Amino acid sequence: MLKDFLSINDIKREEMLELFKLTDKLKKYPNSDVLKNKIFCLYFEKPSTRTRLSFEIGIKQLGGEVVFLDKITSQLSRGEPLEDTIRTVERYAHAIVARVFSQKDLELMAKISKMNVINALSDLEHPCQALADVYTIKEKFRTLKDIRIAFVGDGSDNVLHSLLLAVTKLGMHINIACPKGYEPNKDILERAKTQAKISGSNISIIRDPVKAVKDVHIVYTDVFVSMGQEKETQKRLKKFLPKYRVTQQLLDKAGSALFMHCLPAHRGQEVDDKVIEDIRSIVFDQAENRLHTQKALILKLLNLEQMYNLKISMQE
Ligand code: CP
Ligand code: NVA
Repeated sequence: MLKDFLSINDIKREEMLELFKLTDKLKKYPNSDVLKNKIFCLYFEKPSTRTRLSFEIGIKQLGGEVVFLDKITSQLSRGEPLEDTIRTVERYAHAIVARVFSQKDLELMAKISKMNVINALSDLEHPCQALADVYTIKEKFRTLKDIRIAFVGDGSDNVLHSLLLAVTKLGMHINIACPKGYEPNKDILERAKTQAKISGSNISIIRDPVKAVKDVHIVYTDVFVSMGQEKETQKRLKKFLPKYRVTQQLLDKAGSALFMHCLPAHRGQEVDDKVIEDIRSIVFDQAENRLHTQKALILKLLNLEQMYNLKISMQE
């Protein structure tokens, strides 16, 4: 099994499906002491509610310990190199869960340390979000094959990048409705296209959100201005609004599609208040599933699945 989870592409299709089976089990049996004596460092350069809480609570439910580190209160703020910080952290902790500005910093962490490194969001990807999202879709539709998704908004978004890589492994189809200049990262799109040829997925970049949502099962959006892009706020809002906002009228055009958002949402910006509150919205199921899928990920990375199963069989 792999040491690090930096990109959704670090796991193969089969591994993802196996991880979802383990997630089913963890939903049924959430508590164990399988992580007893295991210490996780959560290192966050950006704010977080769901990711931080779901990792902290999930690790505690499995008997592990968590310590939190941020940039402002650590020596990183006074110029200590990231390399020296990581080489110190690995002397104390078994794994690091890191939310960073640059994907390159995650790669550096993985390269120079023996501890497991988990991407808790970077500029490029949010692979833990994609795990929870695809698992949630599987729960709702009982299948993944030929599920059609429309992502409306920022095509260069980190959440979309991981989702795109995940769905094209699994034979799902995705329409991306985004303005010119906001398409997915070129390397990620190429990789997704290669995967799509094998799995039978379709990827379409469509400028018109109304066309993009036609006959899909899921309408997905994320913020127009991600963390770290604050300086571009005015430019971005001008590009995206009002055309790319998910309104009830747009959702209606998709027929009976469900609505997804990784949260936090800027209500009234990329999505209307009423859409989040609509019966078709499954945003809090997504948020809940972060907890369960990440616990499965940790057990896989630390090679503790068998131990968990053994402990659970004793509980049964
Ligand atoms: N979806 C997500 O990662 O949320 P947080 O920023 O609250 O962690
Ligand atoms: N694209 C958003 C996701 C937040 C969970 C951001 O990076 O800010």
